[in-house]
Amino acid sequence: MLITTLADLHQQVAAWKAKGESIGLVPTMGALHAGHLSLVHAARAECDRVIVTIFVNPTQFNSAQDLASYPRTEAADAALLAPLGVDVIFAPAPDQVYPAGFATQITVSGVADPLEGALRPGHFAGVATVVAKLFGMTQADRAYFGQKDWQQLQVVHRMVADLNMAVQVIGCDTLREADGLAMSSRNARLSAQARAAAPALYAAMTAVAASVTAGGQADNALKAARKALLDAGFERVEYIALHDGETMQPSTDLSRPLRLLAAAWLGGVRLIDNVAVTPAP
Ligand code: PAF
Repeated sequence: MLITTLADLHQQVAAWKAKGESIGLVPTMGALHAGHLSLVHAARAECDRVIVTIFVNPTQFNSAQDLASYPRTEAADAALLAPLGVDVIFAPAPDQVYPAGFATQITVSGVADPLEGALRPGHFAGVATVVAKLFGMTQADRAYFGQKDWQQLQVVHRMVADLNMAVQVIGCDTLREADGLAMSSRNARLSAQARAAAPALYAAMTAVAASVTAGGQADNALKAARKALLDAGFERVEYIALHDGETMQPSTDLSRPLRLLAAAWLGGVRLIDNVAVTPAP
């Protein structure tokens, strides 16, 4: 069932809650791909009711152009979700989410500061605020996020812990194309030439992870990865860096959950990815 107004959503959620049914939320900005569908499968397996939200959240975009060019594929999204047993697709208009007079913002410090937070000022405040609102609107018991946006996932974990939100946040594995490219709505914008070069990102990242876990110098491995990406045709590497996977601070401490994260431009498209850096047992 497609719901577009808060009033209708409240009515439906209240009816489920009255029966003691659990609610799983999959928050999305649409342009769905197999990665999103894997979140829906996880929610379907664990919850009585599943809500998928489709809302291109204006407050998390840094440029009007990026917001305007974000793919919007409502009919295709609905067709992809149809066979999956989703109970509600909630696709509100912006004024349902941000009515006149809206004046509250959630700012998460620490985990939100480096990497995406430093490069995209205000992005995580936009994400945290809309995610908090979606939790409130849907009264979700569990919410499913992709690990592809690793830092976003840590921001949401931090917010939920700090604000005592009664929702369990579940991070699901990144889905990859056969050549390693992480699935993303932005991949649709890659030209054929850029798409052919794109797997170099995951290849460079797995090479760094392998070198660091084998005891290699992190700086050398990261430098080699930058070069490999530029050689493969990437225009610019914004970052490729090792950070603590929970605090998101720079780290090379293999005794902690270590994460390698990268953002790089290819054919005018900004790709991000991350991999765990885990010492061999
Ligand atoms: O990951 C996304 O698609 C968005 O950041 C989210 C979580 C739906 C919030 O707008």
